[in-house]
Amino acid sequence: MSKIWEANYSFTSNNVRPSPIREMLAVIKQPGMISFAGGMPAPEVFPIEKFYEGAHVLKDDGANLLQYGRTEGYPPLKEFLAGWTAPRMGREVSLEEMLITTGSQQALDLVSWAMIDRGDTVITENPTYLAALTAFYNHGANFIGIPVDQEGMQVDLIPEALERASKEGRKVKFIYTIVNFHNPAGATMSVERRKKLVEISRKYNIPVFEDDPYGYVRYDGEHLPSVFSYDDEGGVLYAGSFSKILSPGTRIGWVTGDKEIIRKMTVFKQATDLCSSTITQALVAEYCHKGYLDEHLPVIIDNYRVKRDAMEESFKKHLAPRGVSWVKPEGGFFYWLHFPNLTTDDLFKKAIDKKVAFVTGDPFCIKESDGKHYARLCYTFPTPEIIEEGVKRIAEAIDELTLSAKA
Ligand SMILES: Cc1ncc(COP(=O)(O)O)c(C=O)c1O
Repeated sequence: MSKIWEANYSFTSNNVRPSPIREMLAVIKQPGMISFAGGMPAPEVFPIEKFYEGAHVLKDDGANLLQYGRTEGYPPLKEFLAGWTAPRMGREVSLEEMLITTGSQQALDLVSWAMIDRGDTVITENPTYLAALTAFYNHGANFIGIPVDQEGMQVDLIPEALERASKEGRKVKFIYTIVNFHNPAGATMSVERRKKLVEISRKYNIPVFEDDPYGYVRYDGEHLPSVFSYDDEGGVLYAGSFSKILSPGTRIGWVTGDKEIIRKMTVFKQATDLCSSTITQALVAEYCHKGYLDEHLPVIIDNYRVKRDAMEESFKKHLAPRGVSWVKPEGGFFYWLHFPNLTTDDLFKKAIDKKVAFVTGDPFCIKESDGKHYARLCYTFPTPEIIEEGVKRIAEAIDELTLSAKA
């Protein structure tokens, strides 16, 4: 095998980490495996027919849609989003305040291009979305992790962390937060903390990146205003996505914020992919303008609520008696389980033997060992019956592990 590439790798390439979840896909694809691992939407709720209805846009406007599009995004989609997101954002944003991205994952990369120099620090929740950590890390970031409780990030701890960072000569560039139905912790940030976060951001002059792919997938209670809506000084970037509310295959997300930072990210996007697929944006826009997204949301919410409740019941039956604890999420895709009596790395191996998969807590944590007693389970993909069977298998894996530890 040629070593010619390896001999010339960049520093980043020599230090890059593949996603543990993407790497796990091979194991998970084994026949008979029940997977709670990837954060995947349920295929049975994809609105295939209604989405396909929009295919006429190709006949109507093919000459335009088959051409390169604008880096900023397809205007009819941006117009829809500006109106549709207004209640959450506190106002209707202008089109210059929004950039369409290739999934919200791209917004994480673009903000990194715009903000992070090698050695800079990003404040995140601990635990946090592991592909955000990877995106920031690939740009040379290091991290300060702020613990999460039932009300989300414990923002009161940020000032002290900032002061310590400043004494250590670290440059904190932004605060990354997942405010609704956190991945992986399931928690939702309270309104008080959202307001406090904006105060802290202003006081210390550190901007906030609010990542919200799950916000519209709420099962109980009222929607909360975004952090963005509490800030009228342009210090918050808000990222949204069609992945969890329509289809991840569209690879369409958006990021909203001050015109200047949106412009910077647009310039980086020019060199990343020129533009997101115009055809896909047009199909999504057509679907949304017909009002189908608003009709679709209750369908997915009803489907996922049943699965969330099935998982909750299975946990009560099989895991609570074995000392496992959790907080019931009000929306989103994930449970974050605490196993005080074992390490989830060991449990994972046993679970795979029993043909059930989840993600261990360590890759979500700033210091990996912080996650060793935790696991993330996604409930949106399997049916309620499969959820019960999978949780039962995890309980059996716990028993075998406990027995072998005693032996
Ligand atoms: C918190 C969070 N942010 C961003 C993403 C990326 O989503 P996408 O690129 O599909 O919009 C995900 C996907 O799981 C996520 O959980």
